[in-house]
Amino acid sequence: MIKKINTKLVKLVKYYSLINHNLIYENEAINRYKSNKNLSIKSPKGKELQELKSAISNIKNCNLKKNSTNIVFSDGNPNAKIMLIGEGPGANEDLEGIPFIGKTGELLDKMLLSINLDRDNVYITNVVNFRPPENRSPTEEEINRYLPYLIKHIEIINPKILILLGSTALNAILGNEKIISEARGKWVEKKIGKCNTSIIASFHPAFLMRQPDQKKLSWNDLKMIRKKIIDLGITLEK
Ligand code: URA
Repeated sequence: MIKKINTKLVKLVKYYSLINHNLIYENEAINRYKSNKNLSIKSPKGKELQELKSAISNIKNCNLKKNSTNIVFSDGNPNAKIMLIGEGPGANEDLEGIPFIGKTGELLDKMLLSINLDRDNVYITNVVNFRPPENRSPTEEEINRYLPYLIKHIEIINPKILILLGSTALNAILGNEKIISEARGKWVEKKIGKCNTSIIASFHPAFLMRQPDQKKLSWNDLKMIRKKIIDLGITLEK
């Protein structure tokens, strides 16, 4: 019975992906799906983002893509000055095609809200855009395969602040020699592709769910981000 419902759900999600890939699931009885303004042609960055999304969709001989349901490209506001990078989609994200939904996404939203941010004034993506099977982390080979797309993504968004959530994003962007508990909570000024940006690494919300005692440190990082937003004179959308 449950299997039948799941199969139906997967088919429904596939159907929605066919008619419009950019749907946001909302927990409302009426109008449950609304268009994601994220890749709207009206956004000046929309065309470049659409092109990047189709380049990733057309990736060849990729096991991640083969085993996944949907591409998980991004969420949030492409004009945001703050960009977050997670690791890779989980099961919920794979079904909906949107990063950070489900429990991990709920915690991320709470973390953002604690410093007056939300998905209207940040932009969110992942190191890899297709779900690694069984929720494993992406391999080094997979990370390297997706890295040119990620760099292009950062160039298009051109954020003033780049937040790396967890060790996969940290290692992809700042290099392999760092461990997250040592690298977190420090600003690094770096050029990624053509984008000069202030980068900070912090714990991944999924890690914080397993290790809630680390939330104190995460809160320190969030306060650093809040201060940086003020110091850089970033005005938040809305
Ligand atoms: N974890 C991630 O790193 N990204 C997601 O989109 C969801 C969970």
